[in-house]
Amino acid sequence: MALNLEMLGEEIGPLTKEYTWKDAVLYALGVGAGSDELDFVYEKELKVLPSFAVPAVFDFLFEVGVKSNVNLAGIMHGEQELVFHRPLSREGRLSTRGRITDYYDLGRDKGALVKAEGVTRDEQGRKLFTNRMTIFAKLDGGFGGEKPPRQEVAIPDREPDFVVQDQPSRDQPLLYRLSGDTFALHVDPEFARKAGFERPIMHGLCTHGFACRACVNSLVPAEPEKVKRFSCRFSRPLYPGTPIQTRIWNTGPGSAVWRVVAAETGEVVIDQGIFEYGDLEERVLFKDQVAIVTGAGGGLGRGYALELAKRGARVVVNDFGGARDGSDTGSQDPAQRVVREIEALGGRAVANYDNVAEAGGGQNIVQSALNTFGRVDVLINNAGILRDRSFHKLDPSTWHAVLDVHLNGAFHVTRAAFPQMKEQGYGRVIMTTSAAGLYGNFGQANYSAAKLGLVGFMNSLKLEGERFDFKVNTVAPLAVSRLTQDVLPKELLDRAGPEFVVPLVLYLASKECTVSGEIYNAGLGFYNRVVLANGRGRVLGSKEQPAGPEVIKREFAGIEDLTQWHSYETLNEQIMDLVSRV
Ligand code: NAI
Repeated sequence: MALNLEMLGEEIGPLTKEYTWKDAVLYALGVGAGSDELDFVYEKELKVLPSFAVPAVFDFLFEVGVKSNVNLAGIMHGEQELVFHRPLSREGRLSTRGRITDYYDLGRDKGALVKAEGVTRDEQGRKLFTNRMTIFAKLDGGFGGEKPPRQEVAIPDREPDFVVQDQPSRDQPLLYRLSGDTFALHVDPEFARKAGFERPIMHGLCTHGFACRACVNSLVPAEPEKVKRFSCRFSRPLYPGTPIQTRIWNTGPGSAVWRVVAAETGEVVIDQGIFEYGDLEERVLFKDQVAIVTGAGGGLGRGYALELAKRGARVVVNDFGGARDGSDTGSQDPAQRVVREIEALGGRAVANYDNVAEAGGGQNIVQSALNTFGRVDVLINNAGILRDRSFHKLDPSTWHAVLDVHLNGAFHVTRAAFPQMKEQGYGRVIMTTSAAGLYGNFGQANYSAAKLGLVGFMNSLKLEGERFDFKVNTVAPLAVSRLTQDVLPKELLDRAGPEFVVPLVLYLASKECTVSGEIYNAGLGFYNRVVLANGRGRVLGSKEQPAGPEVIKREFAGIEDLTQWHSYETLNEQIMDLVSRV
């Protein structure tokens, strides 16, 4: 048997694995967490221990062993490094792709090192962590390869800043192996004796989990999501039941080094440990992007414009500047004020005073973006007016005025922006609906019709933008503004600032946004998704004989039933479902 050197650089994977909170808890129990660390073992507010990443992709480790053709009788885990790009969630579906990056030769009697790297993503394709590991293959040396470069982590020559005592139980490997590494060396006395040990030994990765807990609890207590890097070299086997110490030295802001020793003898079990921590989340930024916000002279629109500018976007601040019911000739003041605010923050913006209710207005707004900044990446259709009337007093001009600003306004600006987005292969559009449209409100038939019309507009537009990186979504905000200050209950006014809506809209407007064609409520710090629910329904009558109204009456409860509801993405999906039922 010889190492399969041809596997160098060849892709391994994708290997997929689903896990639930129970896997994360089982792992935490396996590496010694208990009732003092409920965060790791109780599903209520579960946090996943970062080192869970290794058993979560155990298949990758296994595959590297098989593909490299190492002699399994002589392998040990040599080195292990995890670099986190996003925190691990409590459940998910992981997909890992990787490759063998190096084969090193330590000499005929000394063995070989097989190094591999895997990148693991979540079901949305977002990078979660990079896993680099080294298999020490004792029986595979002498193949004529290069010697490994020496890389040493400097452990300070002083007392550690933290010493964490632990005592893995004699049965620890029995629990730990349920997380995936069922190698007989850790459970079978006879196998262990044949391999030269008195009895089964701890999994190196189990001790690694103890060390990870110790580092998290010492340096980022209750915030494991802050771990950026956790790496080490395995030095010596450890028998279960042996007391250990994880010794940790601070080396600078956000970084520490560590090692695990057997507490009684001081023998080093894991060495060369690095622990780095800080904020992992990448900021949502709009660098080099151009955003149009209609009705940005006040209220929510101003909030979107300011935050977009703070995060790097160049912004077209559109506002016609009319009265709350849209009845006067407009003013340049609101848009100009917001542009000045953005400039005072060091951002870039241009004012535009066009009326979205006119087709030419929509063209001018987009032209202003192109003339000033050369492109348009984001369009937030936000401009709005109110002309509330109870239905029997609702005359056609009041009806049309409201539809013209909300529904036709969004059409006019989107119509001008869409071809630009298509040409550049990227675009984000946000529609603004309302709870009045989604659920109904007395005296707002015009407004409700316009607002739900925007949802229909989005539903079709999402399909026409599917061929490029285009996403359109709809927000139903709740915030204090000129439109709502006399409508919202007084006790909510102080708590309903636009700043609670802005984050959701900015996410939907960003390149990180992964959804299209969705509706979200946002306000007061609450965010949820809204769908049109379809009941399971009933098939009544027959192909030859339609059901009569009496049958409908009799079966009406079943027609209404929503217990097994679902939603559809497209008309086609709905028709196919219907056809499959009749
Ligand atoms: P707001 O009155 O502060 O902002 C609307 C802005 O649109 C105003 O600055 C106005 O001058 C501008 N505008 C009106 N007609 C225009 C036109 N024809 N062309 C260009 N600009 C025009 O009100 P708010 O609350 O910030 O509203 C923003 C959007 O959010 C609206 O579409 C509104 O219907 C929607 N909305 C707001 C809710 C809330 O709780 N504030 C609830 C549900 C929906």
